[in-house]
Amino acid sequence: MGKNNIPNGNPSFPSTRMRRNRLNNWSRRLIQENKLSTDDLIWPIFITDKNKKSSIDSMPGIFRIPLNEIVDVIGESQNYDIPAIALFPETNPNVKDELGSEALNENNLICEAIKLIKKNYNSVGIITDVALDPYTSHGHDGIIKNNEILNDETLDMLGKQAINQAKSGADIIAPSDMMDGRVNHIRTELDKNGFHNTQIMSYAVKYASNFYGPFRNAIGSEINLSKKSKKSYQMDYANSDEALREVSLDISEGADMIMVKPGMPYLDILYRIKSTFKIPTYAYQVSGEYSMLMSAIKNNYLSNNSIIEALTCFKRAGADGILTYFALEAAQILKNDFINII
Ligand code: PBG
Repeated sequence: MGKNNIPNGNPSFPSTRMRRNRLNNWSRRLIQENKLSTDDLIWPIFITDKNKKSSIDSMPGIFRIPLNEIVDVIGESQNYDIPAIALFPETNPNVKDELGSEALNENNLICEAIKLIKKNYNSVGIITDVALDPYTSHGHDGIIKNNEILNDETLDMLGKQAINQAKSGADIIAPSDMMDGRVNHIRTELDKNGFHNTQIMSYAVKYASNFYGPFRNAIGSEINLSKKSKKSYQMDYANSDEALREVSLDISEGADMIMVKPGMPYLDILYRIKSTFKIPTYAYQVSGEYSMLMSAIKNNYLSNNSIIEALTCFKRAGADGILTYFALEAAQILKNDFINII
């Protein structure tokens, strides 16, 4: 250390030059530590019961897909070999109620979409969200009594919702509701009903986040939820140790994979979790992150290389995969780059 505790610089300079390895493209490729591939992508898709696709105001470039177009859309994803998709329904307001009963309808939008996709493409993994918010008149993920979101009563609904999805052919059940004990409950119910091979990807670490705004607009739950908050069940974004407890509980309850959500502002959480538990770990680049990046790209403030950068940073932080609305664009860019290199 020199005066005032300022280091005296690199004593091995000039023999050590960090820039030497970076000089040529072939060398940069050799020293690259993390690589994004199409195998890392999960594509969230919004579906609607209307017969035409509709744009989503808060998510430029993203559409709600009607059932008569879903097979073609999945076909596009399969041209790029995207391994899995995640389905989210825009539920007709007429069928929403206090309990979210539509979640248990075996012909609901999600179940119909799963059946159609499975009939045409059996090689794509289908992930379905378990939570009541697309179906409740109040927009919460659980059942409410006297202003309280009831945990144990909600579990019963979630277990039945999971079975309903598994029966239609869902491959991965992804509980996003943040009720305590739901992974154990869902695992038990799945096993009881013969679905012991159905995987569970738990939204183990889900923060109460402002970045979900555009998603709520997309599935039409924002009107129902209005100004109410989900802070009594989703985590406080100021917390980090609590995330480790959530993950360890979900692993002990039988989660096969876990997820951290939102993504980019939470890379520290992702890193801690992957380093601690070494379980398949996924990050959700949520709707608000998509909208921020996409608005900047549309205005030419950012180039679309920023998409690949953001997704690669998830990998660097420890993600085994990323749920991203950019999945198709990213797969296209990766395919073109690959051809360029060759
Ligand atoms: C529903 C759910 C939400 C998201 C995924 N599942 C929203 C919420 O909890 O309010 C957010 C996804 C996104 O913003 O892209 N429980």
